[in-house]
Amino acid sequence: MKHMNKPVILTGLRANNNLHIGNYLGALLPIIDMARKRAGEYQVNLFVPDLHSFTTPIDHSALQAAIMQNLRVFVAAGLPLDNPDVHVYRQSYIPSHSELTWILDCFTGMGEMNRMTQFKDKAGKSQEQVSVGLFNYPVLMAADILLHRASYVPVGEDQTQHLEFTRDIAERLNNRFGELFVVPKPVQEQHKFFGKDQGLRIRDLQEPSKKMSKSEDSRRGIIYLTDTPGQAHKKIMSAETDSLGKVAYDAGTQPGISNLLTLLALISGRTLDDVQNEYEGRTQYGPLKTALADTMAEFLQDFQDKLAKVDEKSILNKLSVSEKQMNEQAGQVLLSVQKAVGLRE
Ligand code: ADP
Ligand code: TRP
Repeated sequence: MKHMNKPVILTGLRANNNLHIGNYLGALLPIIDMARKRAGEYQVNLFVPDLHSFTTPIDHSALQAAIMQNLRVFVAAGLPLDNPDVHVYRQSYIPSHSELTWILDCFTGMGEMNRMTQFKDKAGKSQEQVSVGLFNYPVLMAADILLHRASYVPVGEDQTQHLEFTRDIAERLNNRFGELFVVPKPVQEQHKFFGKDQGLRIRDLQEPSKKMSKSEDSRRGIIYLTDTPGQAHKKIMSAETDSLGKVAYDAGTQPGISNLLTLLALISGRTLDDVQNEYEGRTQYGPLKTALADTMAEFLQDFQDKLAKVDEKSILNKLSVSEKQMNEQAGQVLLSVQKAVGLRE
């Protein structure tokens, strides 16, 4: 198949809640930039990991709508649906993902999964019974990546450990059974590819020691892509800062201010250096907040105008083409694994 020759860039965004600006900047924007600027050189896979959406409890009657909303957000963010190298799909429509997960499970140590900080965090916070699905989550994520031979996987900093596990399990099976999988590039090399020196971690506006997360309910600290420009403006103006009284980029001592500088750079498409040059050393936090609040409000207005115009029919058409192609592509990789472990002749 011709699309199997190009290096693959792949990422997924779960449909467990409204997407926020951290999801957009950490995962969505990098892949969409690649799809637009380097079209032709890469295969770009952007999918909804719907099976991952209920590793922690959700309202299942809202899942279909949430999946469609994520897909609409992909398009509003600029994903070119008419590009034949771009593939958009739902994980559960490609049953190979679940099948490979089971096989990989049997080569994964309990200790490896127990070490995953996201699992420890989420299991620690959960009021309800912690599911085996939550424990197993990184293995399904590894299957998502390996079945499509992805080299580059744009994700936020919180997913780094899962990417490292994906590389480990791919190398483990390759060493044992021969070259079954394309091993994703080392994480540091991936950051360089996406023009960064480290993984992105946008912080909660109210509690800047924590990452902005849609799994949290500190609504005032999170800028959702569906917030009205006015709501977002207010949230930024009342963001938690510090009492040092001097703008400086230092995530250790001034996490709130550093977060505002990072957001301003990313949303306005400027470099962090440029934004730092403008604001560092100032003794008032107000001008930085106002600049970010205005820029964010404008960004959201534009984004939501685009969101309102998204044509669901074109999404459904793209899904049916991509899901057929991806079933074929993933099916070939799964078959080679099934043969390697003795399930097929
Ligand atoms: P959440 O933690 O908000 O529930 P997910 O775990 O579904 O979000 O993450 C979807 C994608 O967005 C992942 O690639 C994740 O790394 C990225 N992401 C989530 N939160 C942030 C953040 N605060 N900053 C940067 N990237 C983030
Ligand atoms: N684990 C990712 C998250 O919570 C979502 C995800 C599932 C993913 N499978 C993936 C991301 C494969 C990248 C590649 O955000």
